[in-house]
Amino acid sequence: MRSVDSLFVLALGASVCAGGFSAQGQTVGDPAAGKALAGQCRTCHGLDGFAKIPIAPHIGGEPAAYISAQLTAFRGGTRTHEMMTVVAKTLTDQQIADLAAWYSGHKAIADLASNPDDAPELCSGCHGADGIGLAEDVPNLAGETSIYIDTQLKAFRLGKRTHEVMSVVAAEMTDDEIRAAADWYAAIKLTIESQ
Ligand code: HEC
Ligand code: HEC
Repeated sequence: MRSVDSLFVLALGASVCAGGFSAQGQTVGDPAAGKALAGQCRTCHGLDGFAKIPIAPHIGGEPAAYISAQLTAFRGGTRTHEMMTVVAKTLTDQQIADLAAWYSGHKAIADLASNPDDAPELCSGCHGADGIGLAEDVPNLAGETSIYIDTQLKAFRLGKRTHEVMSVVAAEMTDDEIRAAADWYAAIKLTIESQ
């Protein structure tokens, strides 16, 4: 596996790209409009982003840039899923920005019962020991189900989902390592506070 340091360099490169994108003028989202649109999302993600079904991730309190990027990826076909591909297909840039403003406006609070020193070392530098992402482009993992985390890591490993950093991280993980990391983050209690 590559060292954590070289992954940080990769992550830095990735966030510089993201910054360049926003400098070209990112659409500004309106949380109230996003809340109205979230009626289409609530059966799976909840109105506040606390998921209602095990295969759907919690999205409340995720960074707006991350939510927008994922919806754009589903819409464009670079990330695919039978449900989300259909949901995202008709969203406009404005609606994506509005939904991102709504869901990111909540606060994700993690309650880690275990010793943080036992957190998976290769992951905690970016995702936190408690599963709260430490940078704008890093999603929270706290309280996501094992099945969701497992599915995403295997998708990165297979190349079904791609990302400069995560494809490299997942490529060298065994099934057991994937399971251990998924279990660590799934065991953390997540609360989403509406703002
Ligand atoms: C029928 C259920 C369903 C509906 C409705 C739905 N989603 Fe999803 N969503 C999912 C599932 C399942 C996934 C996980 C996809 C995967 O495994 O890659 C997901 C993934 C996502 C992700 C990626 C999150 C991450 O952590 O990577 C975002 C963002 C998202 N949905 C936003 C929305 C928004 C916004 C709406 C409403 C406009 C919506 N979804 C409607 C089921 C749903
Ligand atoms: C250098 C930073 C970095 C490291 C180290 C890292 N990640 Fe990630 N991770 C990211 C970024 C950035 C994303 C967002 C990828 C995207 O935009 O598709 C991500 C996405 C994920 C996702 C998808 C989450 C979702 O909501 O869909 C999972 C699961 C994940 N990482 C697990 C891990 C695990 C487990 C480890 C340790 C073995 C790890 N990551 C190490 C930066 C990192």
